[in-house]
Amino acid sequence: MTQESRFLLACQGKAHDTVPVWFMRQAGRYQESYRALRTRYSMLELARSPRLMRDVTVRPVEELGVDAAILFSDIMVPLTGLGLDFDIQENVGPVVRDPIRTAGQVAQIPPFRSDLVDYVYEGTQLTVEALGPIPLIGFAGAPFTLASYLVEGRPSRTYRATKEMMWNNPAVFQGLLEVLSDMVIEHLRRQAGAGAQALQVFDSWIGAVGQADYQRAVLPHMMRIFGALKDLGIPLIYFGVGTQHLLSAMAATGATVIGVDWRTHLPEVRHTLGAEVVLMGNLDPERVVAGTAAALSGAEEIVKQMAGDPRYIFNLGHGVPKETNPEVLRELVSRVHEWGRLGEGS
Ligand code: CP3
Repeated sequence: MTQESRFLLACQGKAHDTVPVWFMRQAGRYQESYRALRTRYSMLELARSPRLMRDVTVRPVEELGVDAAILFSDIMVPLTGLGLDFDIQENVGPVVRDPIRTAGQVAQIPPFRSDLVDYVYEGTQLTVEALGPIPLIGFAGAPFTLASYLVEGRPSRTYRATKEMMWNNPAVFQGLLEVLSDMVIEHLRRQAGAGAQALQVFDSWIGAVGQADYQRAVLPHMMRIFGALKDLGIPLIYFGVGTQHLLSAMAATGATVIGVDWRTHLPEVRHTLGAEVVLMGNLDPERVVAGTAAALSGAEEIVKQMAGDPRYIFNLGHGVPKETNPEVLRELVSRVHEWGRLGEGS
């Protein structure tokens, strides 16, 4: 009998041996092996090759001993299936050639053609085969976070053009979120079809939106997305940064797991959201850059507060920074497993 994944058991609230751990952006530039590949290939070339995608996805599992893998891709990748042109610039992020600002542009976006990004699903299948018992998390960007790149044209601090569209052209904004939601649903369903055992929706920048605007303009789309994935019967993770004011609404979307950033106190989030939802987080990513002592003291505090909670998964509050020493992450994984055992089971 194969050992059941502690990550998947925690997602279901079932008994497991210790606190599961994985890291957002566990594949990336903090790894020597990744930097070596990047001298030969661009980030998008890696993400468009099923075999390279598999190799990059599997490596942190081997190097760190984490309990789940996340597909190596980017939230921008499936936009190719909507005929949208973008690039990923180093140390900048996603850049869109023709930012979307008008009703005409939104109306011209064709229906999503997932066959144009078949390499993602082929890579998913290869990766699942290579991972064996370690589950693979497939993912997509959430409509607001994707729209923020499409409307601004590049990373933004204020999301001014996106918010202007949300308030001044609500029908256009809703139309844009609608086509993006359709894409997200299809893209995630195809990853699940290719073997992904859990799905995560990254709404990284949603924390910039106020509670009332979220309820009015974004929540209906998120409810539609999670509702359309429910029959897959696999864990659905919803993550955002700076979302304290949105957590109750996020938990009402139908997501199984809520990922929270380092600003929140997890026992308080548990108290607010109740016992049913699975919580994921939330070490300040800067702690792993600051070094082993800072990382371990922060993690010990979190894990000792949450160990014994059957619905808890350790992660950072956001992605692994590129300045991280991999040795710190390795130590972190083994200590979280050790501390997690103390409170579990029986
Ligand atoms: O290991 C993993 O987590 C899987 C891979 C992954 C990447 N992007 C690879 C990547 C995942 C899950 C993403 C999602 C993603 N992409 C998000 C949501 C998660 C988050 O961090 O909030 C967002 C907002 C993006 C958009 C994006 N793509 C940004 C902001 C950047 C960083 C720009 C930079 O150079 O600092 C990218 C590029 C990117 N995506 C890199 C990686 C490993 C670095 C690219 C490189 O190799 O140069």
